[in-house]
Amino acid sequence: MESLSVRHLLGIKNLTSEDIHLILETAKQFKEVINRPIKKVPSLRDVTIVNLFFENSTRTRISFELAEKRLSADVLNFSASSSSVNKGETLLDTVNNILAMKVDMVVIRHPSPGTAIYLSKKIDASIINAGDGTHEHPTQALLDAFSIQEKLGDLAGKKVLIIGDIMHSRVALSNIFCLQKLGAEVMLCGPRTLMPNNIESLGVRVENNLKKALSWCNVANVLRIQLERQNISYFPSLREYANMYGINKQLLSEMKDELLIMHPGPMNRGVEISSDVADSPQSIILDQAQNGVAVRMAILYLLAGRR
Ligand code: CP
Repeated sequence: MESLSVRHLLGIKNLTSEDIHLILETAKQFKEVINRPIKKVPSLRDVTIVNLFFENSTRTRISFELAEKRLSADVLNFSASSSSVNKGETLLDTVNNILAMKVDMVVIRHPSPGTAIYLSKKIDASIINAGDGTHEHPTQALLDAFSIQEKLGDLAGKKVLIIGDIMHSRVALSNIFCLQKLGAEVMLCGPRTLMPNNIESLGVRVENNLKKALSWCNVANVLRIQLERQNISYFPSLREYANMYGINKQLLSEMKDELLIMHPGPMNRGVEISSDVADSPQSIILDQAQNGVAVRMAILYLLAGRR
């Protein structure tokens, strides 16, 4: 069996392009499995996985739990709001106490960048980063790449535009690394105040004019304005943001070619994306959610093989 070069999934930055191709190929097989009448396989029988969520989540949390159950793993769900973290217990003590109960793999979402990396240096179990603050969201980037590949074929040479709040987005950073490792070109578009200084040093192009940016790309990945991560105002109002950077049907109808529209969710309808785009045949937003299960099954399966 082919295997990954890593023992943990901490970020896309640590993966080789061979790792990414292996995950996407394996996910293709799992997508077939989850579309069968019997959706469950015994691959992770006797493997115990804990999902530690210190931050809100709908898609990632449900998709990991479903992926684990489809692989026949034993699944534990931890929610920070109802745990002894509220009594002052440290993250490391919390995790070590859970692992003492013979848990094999840890899926963690945490608001602090670097949490998954920190844990991987302190504990023995395999760690999967389900989003760490503004740092990385590797499984999102992998499911995004899978979803583009499913519609457009090989990513090499494809032009992908990421629009919006780049500065606060872990999805943007993981997507940049992932798309580049697969040979795609990446352009970023958004208010200058939400664009990290020197982001071009990652090898991406930056375009402030949304129409020009849209006319360049094959795929537009629209990001949410992360109001919960902004302690100052980066633009005058949501209405002005929607006017300048919101994607709507009128704007897309002016493009020569039909673009694929993506959004990692949760969406702010009427702000970064209008409903007539989000619900249109161009949008693959629900495909992304569906593909998340197959991609996460692939990651869990491949990392379990490395234990
Ligand atoms: N895309 C994403 O991470 O969504 P959730 O926050 O709902 O998990």
